[in-house]
Amino acid sequence: MKNVLAIYPGSFDPVTNGHLDLIERGANIFDRLIVSILRNFDKDPLFTVEERVEMLRDVVRPWPNVEVDVFSGLLVEYARLREANVILRGIRAVSDYEYELQMALVNRKLNPNVETVFMMPKLSYSFLSSRIVREIAQLGGSLTGLVPPAVEERLRAKIA
Ligand code: PNS
Repeated sequence: MKNVLAIYPGSFDPVTNGHLDLIERGANIFDRLIVSILRNFDKDPLFTVEERVEMLRDVVRPWPNVEVDVFSGLLVEYARLREANVILRGIRAVSDYEYELQMALVNRKLNPNVETVFMMPKLSYSFLSSRIVREIAQLGGSLTGLVPPAVEERLRAKIA
């Protein structure tokens, strides 16, 4: 039997129900899944990396084979360090495909031993993104069903 360790990388600013849907799917098919937050100094995030780690740790608690981590630099280099064989990414709609294809092919060029696996979240999350969630929160709209309750609380506190 193969022991498949997958990395689910992203910004997770903040984690949404769409991310959670993908984490659940990943946890079901891979032996282990590392949800890893990119420490990206270029971006202007809403939540600090530490806050994002806390929120993710809180919501992945139901899955004992899921771990939360942080990485910086090249994703394939991080995958090599963690001895991961799979990169998991979600594709919501055709519009995601071009960027995801480019990233998967660049990563394959950099490290042919790591395979990118795409999964589709539930159709009802196909419009959902962290950016949309931040915008709704900033404009005072309802976040019910879009993010876990603990994340909704943090968003309200952050924006109040
Ligand atoms: O949630 P996001 O912002 O779509 O995630 C993008 C992420 C973190 C997966 C991507 O930016 C990434 O892997 N960055 C690390 C730098 C890297 O490896 N670049 C080369 C591949 S494009």
